Amino acid sequence: MLKETKKPIFSLEPGVILANDILSEDGKVLLSQGQLLTAEHISYLKGWDIHFVDIVSGIGPASDDHTILQGEKEFNQFYQDTLQTFKQAFKTICLSPDISLTVIKKLSDWHIIPLIDVHGAIEYLYKIQAHCNYTYRHSINVAIVSGIIGKSIGLNKDKLKNLVLAGLLHDVGKLLITKDILDKPGKLTDPEMTVIKKHPLLGYELLRQADFLSEDVKVAVMQHHERNDGSGYPTGLNQHKIHCYAKVIAIADTYDAMTSQRVYRRKLTPFRSAETIAQQMYRQLDLEIGLAFLNFIKNNLINSVVQLSNGKKGKVVYFGDISFERPTVRLLDGTFLDLNENKKIEIVDIVDP
Ligand SMILES: [Fe+2]
Repeated sequence: MLKETKKPIFSLEPGVILANDILSEDGKVLLSQGQLLTAEHISYLKGWDIHFVDIVSGIGPASDDHTILQGEKEFNQFYQDTLQTFKQAFKTICLSPDISLTVIKKLSDWHIIPLIDVHGAIEYLYKIQAHCNYTYRHSINVAIVSGIIGKSIGLNKDKLKNLVLAGLLHDVGKLLITKDILDKPGKLTDPEMTVIKKHPLLGYELLRQADFLSEDVKVAVMQHHERNDGSGYPTGLNQHKIHCYAKVIAIADTYDAMTSQRVYRRKLTPFRSAETIAQQMYRQLDLEIGLAFLNFIKNNLINSVVQLSNGKKGKVVYFGDISFERPTVRLLDGTFLDLNENKKIEIVDIVDP
């Protein structure tokens, strides 16, 4: 977990994060809490005659192996810590790419990987969705879901780490697109859409100089909007030319976009989102990778407690072959309800048992 540590200025290395505001004698904020420190910041601190600062520590393994998290509470705490640090590092990629990307790589290896391993991760991720900090949440969620898929298709540890890092950085190119286009609430015009569609290439360009990142990561960032049937962008590649990581991220990205809470619409349930993935995996998304993910979702969501549109609650006990969003539910009174045979009733939420 992330902690605060008091550090003397002389021992600071670029890439650490301030845990508290640095104030001048008259109370003016000189550097804000959460600032990722560069060598320049550290020399300012020396110039201001500040001798100690509180920094966020704990980006690293808790032991020789990585941290093991258990249950929803630990998952949420670790997720929020990761979100705060990621936000600071991601924002400064354009200003100090080497420092920011080094922090993000550490976060990816030591903070995202433990989140992937939590049984129930899909349910917990869905429950903590909020519309604030969307860009940062989405990057972390895509990294987690990509990692879950990567494990399901049997990637080894090194490949899994690269895939997760690519998931974390997949939309980095959006940092170079103006906010009025990115955050536009209404429908985008054709010229605005053309600008948005540049973000995979912009992302690749931004990462290209970082020698410590694998080329696979950079290619995955460039190809994450390509689609198997050639309908994607920026190049319209077909399935044989798309990198496996990009195919995984495409599924994670689609899934998280649907299950995310946005200002303009309510999040969709994992059941509904999985159904959409199932419909798209025969043409645009990858069939083999899609099936592995859906299989994982089934195993993860069995026994989850759901709120139904008729006001009743129940536990998911069986997924048939026809539909992900219409499993069989055991109601609180012990009776079974097959949603495939009761099409007027829908799952509207996942709730606490
Ligand atoms: Fe994207």
